[in-house]
Amino acid sequence: MPLKKLVAGNWKMHGLSSDLAEIEAIASEARKYPEVDVALCVPAILIERAARAVPGFRIGGQDVHQAEKGAHTGCTSALMLLDAGASLTIVGHSERREAQRESDSQVKAKAEAALSVGLSVILCVGESLEIREAGRATETVLTQLDGSVPNRIGGEAELAIAYEPIWAIGTGKIPTSGEIAEMHSAIRRELRERFGADGGEVRILYGGSVKASNAEEIFAIADVDGALVGGASLTVRDFIPIVAAAAVRS
Ligand code: PGA
Repeated sequence: MPLKKLVAGNWKMHGLSSDLAEIEAIASEARKYPEVDVALCVPAILIERAARAVPGFRIGGQDVHQAEKGAHTGCTSALMLLDAGASLTIVGHSERREAQRESDSQVKAKAEAALSVGLSVILCVGESLEIREAGRATETVLTQLDGSVPNRIGGEAELAIAYEPIWAIGTGKIPTSGEIAEMHSAIRRELRERFGADGGEVRILYGGSVKASNAEEIFAIADVDGALVGGASLTVRDFIPIVAAAAVRS
């Protein structure tokens, strides 16, 4: 049985009070597709206002610190995200792996910190263009998985994986369906090897230039259990057709 699809928006560094109306519009349209799980990961400072504006709709963070609390200026703990009204968080996005030099072991610690307080996690992996062209994409992604996926999954909080080729993020370029299928099946195999039946329940999202025009084709690929959407998640007009495409494949 295919897993229920999860379509999560990653608002990155976008979102002011004036955008709460857009979040309300997205949440209200998303309710028309109960066969799809929909979430918006917004800047930490907007989480509480967004969560209050759309009760019952999933609001998430985009990163979390691995420590419970302490001397970490400018950082946000998992409990703080939860306390603000988030029910999930992204970890290991390539923009953070690159700009903040986050390592696999740090990403793993972040994922564990989130899961331990009941915050679901979307853990990102993905290769650069250089690595893809060198024919080492699968090997690289499997190494990232090996180093960043927590040892224990299957609790109440969910772990999902987002495969996001770095060269497809914000570029309008996407891998071929065959390339996506190959990577998602390699990820699924790895998860099953490591976690047995629980590995079959982990949702594997595709991310990188997902739009209304390519969503249906992407969601038709085996082991694509949803999408992590950047630019096209910022407006109800661009985002909801992607949710609708996921509903068609549910
Ligand atoms: P994009 O971003 O949809 O704008 O390519 C995806 C992401 O970075 O999560």
